[in-house]
Amino acid sequence: MNRKTLDKLAVFGGKPAFLQPLHVGTPNIGDKQRLFERLEDILNRRILTNRGPMVQEFEQRIAELVGVRHCIAMSNGTVALEIATRAIGFKGEVIAPSMTFVATAHALQWQQITPVFCDIKPGGHHLDPARIKELVTPRTTGVLPVNLWGRPCDIDAILSVADSYELPVVFDSAHAFGCSYKGKMIGSFGRAEIFSFHATKFINSFEGGAVVTNDDDLAETVRLMQNFGFEGRDRVGHVGINGKMTEIEAAMGLTSLESMDQFVEHNQQNYHCYKEGLKRIPGVELVEYDERERCNYQYIVVEIDERITSVSCNEMLEVLSAENIDARRYFFPGCHRMEPYRSYFPNAGILLGNTENLLGRVLALPTGTAITIEDVHKITGLISLLSESGRAVGMRLRARSSRSNRLAKEVLADA
Ligand SMILES: Cc1ncc(COP(=O)(O)O)c(C=O)c1O
Repeated sequence: MNRKTLDKLAVFGGKPAFLQPLHVGTPNIGDKQRLFERLEDILNRRILTNRGPMVQEFEQRIAELVGVRHCIAMSNGTVALEIATRAIGFKGEVIAPSMTFVATAHALQWQQITPVFCDIKPGGHHLDPARIKELVTPRTTGVLPVNLWGRPCDIDAILSVADSYELPVVFDSAHAFGCSYKGKMIGSFGRAEIFSFHATKFINSFEGGAVVTNDDDLAETVRLMQNFGFEGRDRVGHVGINGKMTEIEAAMGLTSLESMDQFVEHNQQNYHCYKEGLKRIPGVELVEYDERERCNYQYIVVEIDERITSVSCNEMLEVLSAENIDARRYFFPGCHRMEPYRSYFPNAGILLGNTENLLGRVLALPTGTAITIEDVHKITGLISLLSESGRAVGMRLRARSSRSNRLAKEVLADA
């Protein structure tokens, strides 16, 4: 790329490729008219929460779609994790990945349970079943793997290791609603699984989540704990919390579910377009979906090899951001490098070599029903341009940042 072409990049003063920012996780919105009708029903009925008919219908639909006996709708995925793990009796230490959104770890720490971070598989993004045994201690009470990016972790192997230590497993499937593993829907594995229906998720209920399980006793305990522990009108049997989903959230959830097939189709088309556009770009590797399974295609994740691209992940982010492409470094820098975990386990990184190696190289790119095929073409076109001229772009960015550092030092010296 010559200097003139470089000048066209927004980061060097050119016009941004997009007028409005393109975010990762812009909500998928279903049929607005159906939502308005449901809102009308809710207001006319004057049942706004406390497991009204909308929540019951939502729970039933989710249980049917996943193929489980119980779904307990929740106010969000974090509370779903807290309640599921508490109801099973997790305490002491629980083995979980650091390569996840911090809510996975927080849901444990919130209950004074120590998350013991386990590395991911070499070359993968998911918990390595082979590393679980070295972390089991007499205080270990469970395993909390994550079906990150809607891609299943090594479910069978994890269940088998956990089983050999008689450890219950709860899967954090916040990203994985609508996805399958070996032909069976995610949500039906382990003692329980949780989903998130946050606005950024494939199916959203504004905020929301669910615990899904085939365990009747567990389902009952979860339901009680979610409603302050009330067993009857004036009878409380557990420490409980308010984890209830509202009717309006369930109305949004049901409306989203009705458009699920269109969401998948749109996301899948975007994914194929990204795949085609990125396939010949050296140093930018798309994390692929296994299309023999059911996938929600909600996450477009790329690994950047900066030895080949000559621009770092951060520099790529800076260039894309100037173009109004709000790519994200999910989930940088890893839970073990965030507080309070960083202070609790300052040396955790030593055991998390694969996690550390991956976290600096991952970018999530915008997709979802708000992102069109034309948008994807533009994004991949820019990434391609960037990779062709990585050296020149990198040098110019670095020269600019050392110039501004020098200037800042001069201003400080003059002050
Ligand atoms: C892996 C993971 N677990 C848990 C959560 C928590 O879900 P929520 O935002 O619904 O509380 C999220 C949310 O993004 C997540 O990404």
